[in-house]
Amino acid sequence: MNILVIGSGAREHTLIWKLAQSSKADRLYAVPGNPGMAQLAECIEGVSITDNDALVKLAQDKQVGLVVVGPEVPLTNGAVDAFTKAGIKAFGPVQAAAEIEGSKSFSKNLMKKYHIPTAKYEVFTEAEAAKEYIRAEGAPIVIKADGLAAGKGVIVAMTLEEALAAIDEIMGANAFGNAGSRVVVEEFMAGEEVSVLCFTDGRTILPMVPSQDHKRVFDDDQGPNTGGMGAYAPAPVGTPELLAQVQKEVLDPVIKAMEQEGRLYKGCLYAGLMVTDKGPKVVEFNARFGDPETQVVLPLLESDLVDVMLACIDGSLAETEVKWSSGAAVCIVMAAGGYPKAYDKGDEITGLTAAEEDGSMVFHAGTSSSEGRIYTNGGRVLGVVSKADGIQEAVDRAYAGVAKISFRGAHYRHDIAHWALERLKK
Ligand code: AMP
Ligand code: GLY
Repeated sequence: MNILVIGSGAREHTLIWKLAQSSKADRLYAVPGNPGMAQLAECIEGVSITDNDALVKLAQDKQVGLVVVGPEVPLTNGAVDAFTKAGIKAFGPVQAAAEIEGSKSFSKNLMKKYHIPTAKYEVFTEAEAAKEYIRAEGAPIVIKADGLAAGKGVIVAMTLEEALAAIDEIMGANAFGNAGSRVVVEEFMAGEEVSVLCFTDGRTILPMVPSQDHKRVFDDDQGPNTGGMGAYAPAPVGTPELLAQVQKEVLDPVIKAMEQEGRLYKGCLYAGLMVTDKGPKVVEFNARFGDPETQVVLPLLESDLVDVMLACIDGSLAETEVKWSSGAAVCIVMAAGGYPKAYDKGDEITGLTAAEEDGSMVFHAGTSSSEGRIYTNGGRVLGVVSKADGIQEAVDRAYAGVAKISFRGAHYRHDIAHWALERLKK
């Protein structure tokens, strides 16, 4: 079967890499893809990932039997609805279901209605009302732009001043465009975070191995939030007991809630959780695979990803076995100089082959190519991933891979998986 992947990041590179291993995969296509994906698939330029008609036409021309929609933007734009209407199987939630990520207020209201544990919150459209609530609640407190803001529309304010300034920034100066005309102000949750990505056919929901992202740009979790500076799986915080509780209190109820709301959710549902002293609580739901988490989760999947995705689409996940390796995987993100603020582009990257020869996988997040050379072309540039029997060994191997790669201004965290390693020491 011919397969089309939509997107251009390291998540989509990982998806293509895993799909390519399927015995069912014939020709692979990517829109727009990236130079890493080009080693495995034909990358098609000139088709916008938000032009549903053009995407459907392309899939028809290439006789595609399975489309995998990676990013939230085409999902919330109804790409899966368009493919489905044209009789093409597409993995991912339809537009109405993708709203679980597209609107934080929708997702918070859903959790309240169906008693899914999450932080207490209020939604505001007026800056003054938001500030009054913040003054009454006190700090620490969390402020979120309502719509999509590429993972950067969240401010965890440790002081009242910071919280009030965040309201001015989001609602006053319009830092996040339309995404900021409505804000969610929510209770600060203390604890350790864990990401539980799930396969679901709308009725059965199966968690993947638990993983952990590193959102802050600098070591020791300092500096501003990013799209994610590294990840590892399995995350030891996700014990079997915790996962059983998550299944019962979060996953089963949310999938049932979406069906009851007439928004049957199929695809990958990402539950971002805080493990608090009162149990797991939802930080956010995403309508897609997480990045960088996907880069460490899919390498541990032993089953054929095409089979699992088709089962999600066809509603037969309950009868499908999804097998995981017992090993560990670690991803170190190499970022461009300046990221997460304005960053450099166009610097040549060297050492990619050496890193691969050393046993790491290199997933491209923001690169371009010209005449056989690879250049930086995004904030997060590469994900360097290694797999091993245990976390420590996977960490060591991934950093050995990173050491082979260089580009001007490259920076990365030196402490990826520190929470896991600290836990394992205890
Ligand atoms: P989000 O985009 O909702 O995932 O938020 C980005 C990051 O901000 C999360 O991964 C957490 O690290 C942090 N965060 C979000 N909401 C809260 C909260 N209520 N309490 C503490 N930290 C939070
Ligand atoms: N790693 C966080 C996300 O994908 O949203």
